[in-house]
Amino acid sequence: MRNIVGILLDRKTYLGIQSKQTGYEQIDLYNQAAEKLGITLFYICLQETSGKSALGLCYENKSYRLLRLPYPKVIHNRTLSLSPYMLKKLKHLAASSHVFNRQNRYDKLLIHKLLYTKESLRAHLPATLAYSRAHVLEAMERFTDFFVKPTSSSLGKGIIKLSKLEYDTWEVYWSNKEPKELSREQALAFIQTKVGKQTYLIQQAIILAMHQGRPYDLRVSVQRGAKGKWQVNGIAGKVAAKGRQVTNLGIGGEAWACELLFQRSGFQPQRMKEAVEQLSLKLAETLGNRLPHMADIGLDIGVDLTGHIWFIEANGRDQRYEFKQLKMDDSFYKTYETPLLYAKYLLNKRG
Ligand SMILES: Nc1ncnc2c1ncn2[C@@H]1O[C@H](COP(=O)(O)OP(=O)(O)O)[C@@H](O)[C@H]1O
Ligand SMILES: [Mg+2]
Repeated sequence: MRNIVGILLDRKTYLGIQSKQTGYEQIDLYNQAAEKLGITLFYICLQETSGKSALGLCYENKSYRLLRLPYPKVIHNRTLSLSPYMLKKLKHLAASSHVFNRQNRYDKLLIHKLLYTKESLRAHLPATLAYSRAHVLEAMERFTDFFVKPTSSSLGKGIIKLSKLEYDTWEVYWSNKEPKELSREQALAFIQTKVGKQTYLIQQAIILAMHQGRPYDLRVSVQRGAKGKWQVNGIAGKVAAKGRQVTNLGIGGEAWACELLFQRSGFQPQRMKEAVEQLSLKLAETLGNRLPHMADIGLDIGVDLTGHIWFIEANGRDQRYEFKQLKMDDSFYKTYETPLLYAKYLLNKRG
């Protein structure tokens, strides 16, 4: 068998392959792309790896076979939230295979710091501080609007937003509740009860462009492709649910075509898309240089009321469902094909 590429999945996803119950993971698109590229896919999960081999499902000639094979030379990691034991197994696997996107959860403060080293990106990074009482007080002096967010990815959960009112009172947004009006001390105490022992950061709020009075931002898929170079495979809009300050789809946000959102905000759609693409490529290249196994990220990018573009966060395991919802079939397919093109490039490079 030539050109074997491993796809490392969570066990539940792996077990659902043949019954087509793989959640957001669109296995048939991997298969379609593999056929086109002359690749044999080997679907595996960490639970079934041992020694130097894995028991997995091999997809070839339009059918699956359960086989035990040596570890493939190149593997695309699509697992999430591994236990310490599974992380150890992943490390073992990565010692003999090239596992790209091996790490796919990153501390948001670390990502900010890495990007901040690149001077040309600074104008696109909202001011970000580690969480502490002193830094909340500093943020209250410096900003009229700011977020307090968990440093690890959270699907929009656990996020607090503060907006300054007159007389040093703050409007505090939490979850889907009506905002509370709190004094400075009350706000500090409220934040502390929500943060508890978790790690949080503080971030200047971007005054996001709006659609029907609801803020929106963008999900941009950036992946390494055939020559190892980063490329943008799609841009989708995400509009916050009514009354919310976060746009995540899992908590009521809605996917919208970005062209339409830009047009209604008075931005020239094509020009704005190109500018978002340019910045996204620069962000991905900068992160990729510092985190070499990174090859597939979903960026949250905000555009403010004046049309300035901002980086919000980088997701290491993009679910890509905005593209599915918006029926952006070409983009959706490319998000599956591009990692395989990259895998093929790595295979050829390794010889
Ligand atoms: N600094 C910010 N300015 C404006 N909106 C923000 C900011 N940070 C977060 N948001 C909003 O909250 C959403 C979730 O924040 P994000 O940092 O992406 O965390 P998560 O990992 O939970 O998705 C963003 O998509 C955006 O809508
Ligand atoms: Mg996000």
